[in-house]
Amino acid sequence: MTAVSLEGRPIAESIYAGIEAEVRARVAAGGPRPHLATVLVGDDPASDIYVRMKQRNCERVGISTSDHRLSAKATTEEVVALVGRLNASDEISAILVQMPMPAQVDAEAVVETMSPVKDVDGLHPFNAGRLALGEPVVKPCTPAGIMELLARYEVPLAGRRAVVVGRSNLVGKPVALLLLQAHATVTICHSRTTDLAAVCRQADVLVTAVGKTFYIEPDWVKPGAAVIDVGVSRLDGMVVGDVAGGVDEVAGWLTPNPGGVGPMTRAMLVSNTYDAEVRRRR
Ligand SMILES: NC(=O)c1ccc[n+]([C@@H]2O[C@H](COP(=O)([O-])OP(=O)(O)OC[C@H]3O[C@@H](n4cnc5c(N)ncnc54)[C@H](OP(=O)(O)O)[C@@H]3O)[C@@H](O)[C@H]2O)c1
Repeated sequence: MTAVSLEGRPIAESIYAGIEAEVRARVAAGGPRPHLATVLVGDDPASDIYVRMKQRNCERVGISTSDHRLSAKATTEEVVALVGRLNASDEISAILVQMPMPAQVDAEAVVETMSPVKDVDGLHPFNAGRLALGEPVVKPCTPAGIMELLARYEVPLAGRRAVVVGRSNLVGKPVALLLLQAHATVTICHSRTTDLAAVCRQADVLVTAVGKTFYIEPDWVKPGAAVIDVGVSRLDGMVVGDVAGGVDEVAGWLTPNPGGVGPMTRAMLVSNTYDAEVRRRR
């Protein structure tokens, strides 16, 4: 079997085109331009690249951005104060706080300070709670992107067995909740799961968000399963995923990595920013 490649890039492009048209119409009708404020604490080069990419993706569809930076020595109080100012600004539709932050900053305190309405990644306890109740308002970008990818390729979910490897608040838990909402029967695995291979082999839909190079072997995959490779790691300077070579011969669908989940995550950030602007004007 050679898996159908779940290509994120063309779907992301169609999402950008749709949002661009909506932004143009909204602004032409006299509405305010949606605006994303990004917050970067410290000088991590990878985070700097991620933030710039997010700003560029917004600007290409007509969403304006502002760049807010604090030094690597910033205190929790300083980051909280900045987020408070961004909450209060009427020009700002949505706020992205780039993670991870330096260790001395209490990330939970910062997330809880954010206005739930402006929380573009759905991390605030209000948004996480709504998702857990099956009534999401803002869906975290990567899980939302995965669900959109599965929907566009018409991968069946209702009644199917889904296994999610990884239980982070950013990826594992929210994608498991969204799969549950789509009526899959969901198992969440993590570093203490015993006989992970056997659990993975039961999956009709396998989502792996670990970050360990080529961790998921072909014989861990049920023939015909949909495999979503979220993991990002580096091998000889190249970006690679959690899924080992040969899985494409067993799976029915497989995300390329890069080119699958990453472009969908970035498109969802733009989509969430636009939605935040629409929602707060209702
Ligand atoms: N493509 C994208 O757009 C995108 C977006 C977000 C994240 N990512 C990537 O996705 C990966 C996961 O991100 P994250 O933020 O969820 O990372 P994270 O917070 O580090 O979570 C990793 C998860 O993997 C689990 N894990 C670690 N070793 C394991 C093992 N040997 N067997 C089974 N599970 C294991 C951990 O279990 P414990 O909880 O037990 O420690 C944890 O739940 C990373 O590589 C990240 O770079 C990609």
